[in-house]
Amino acid sequence: MTFPATGQDDLIALLDFHVESGVDIALDEAPHDRFSEIDAPPPAREMPIEPRRAAPADDRSEPRREPLRGREPPPEPRSAAPRTFGGSASAKPGEAAGDARAKAAETASLDELEALLRDFEGCGLRFTAKNLVFADGNPQARVMFVGEAPGADEDRIGKPFMGRSGQLLDRMMAAIGLDRSSAYIANIVPWRPPGNRNPTPQEVAICRPFVERQIALVDPEILVCLGAPSTQTLTGTKDGILKARGRFYPYRLPDGREIRALATLHPAYLLRQPVQKRLAWRDFRALKTALDGVK
Ligand code: URA
Repeated sequence: MTFPATGQDDLIALLDFHVESGVDIALDEAPHDRFSEIDAPPPAREMPIEPRRAAPADDRSEPRREPLRGREPPPEPRSAAPRTFGGSASAKPGEAAGDARAKAAETASLDELEALLRDFEGCGLRFTAKNLVFADGNPQARVMFVGEAPGADEDRIGKPFMGRSGQLLDRMMAAIGLDRSSAYIANIVPWRPPGNRNPTPQEVAICRPFVERQIALVDPEILVCLGAPSTQTLTGTKDGILKARGRFYPYRLPDGREIRALATLHPAYLLRQPVQKRLAWRDFRALKTALDGVK
């Protein structure tokens, strides 16, 4: 297929368009005109056709459904995950996650952790994202909110929850007397998945040691998990968010201390299902009660 790209700017815009649409990997060296293949006659078969064998249980040739979400509607309208794993071309996902854990454990401050992430090449998302989206808010806060992954606004600005979901989150926090000077905000995955697709389980596995280290360094009294991916990643529950929400789960810090992790609905979900805001309001009241130290 040819495009009317005349100069470097056109080509950059075209590449941006592809990445925005979730087309972020090259499958071959040379482009293929798939439209002409539709009209072409099928190639002559030289070999006898083998009967089809059942695919092995671990066949990865088909994209998987979103295992993190269960039946819960996704918080953001993201497209399906790609068939690739999330690490750099040179590392296997398990190795990248192990590398991430070892490196994260060595960081002694949030600044060091952020610097480490800026240099980390084990997650493929960093190569398509415009910016690292590390955190916003006050690292001394008693409460830390954790979302799923940045979207387009966050990627552009480099801070979490900057778009419409962020505006709603700000209003929800304000309703219980919190703002970004009294709360700390981060995501499970600190780079935007292209085209707003879901982070793959491998990408989550690679990024998880970083957010766990971030939680340990912030050392909040209460964690708030926004949506199912955050709740399931941080608490280990397999429950969907409509079941998990409103519950305080134990969250163990590396030094053995236990803090509480409250599961609640993701603001992006609430934008699409405003009737569910009453449930989120209940959760935020429970959060306020917990922060006030009232049983
Ligand atoms: N949704 C998230 O989960 N995180 C953000 O930072 C923005 C939207």
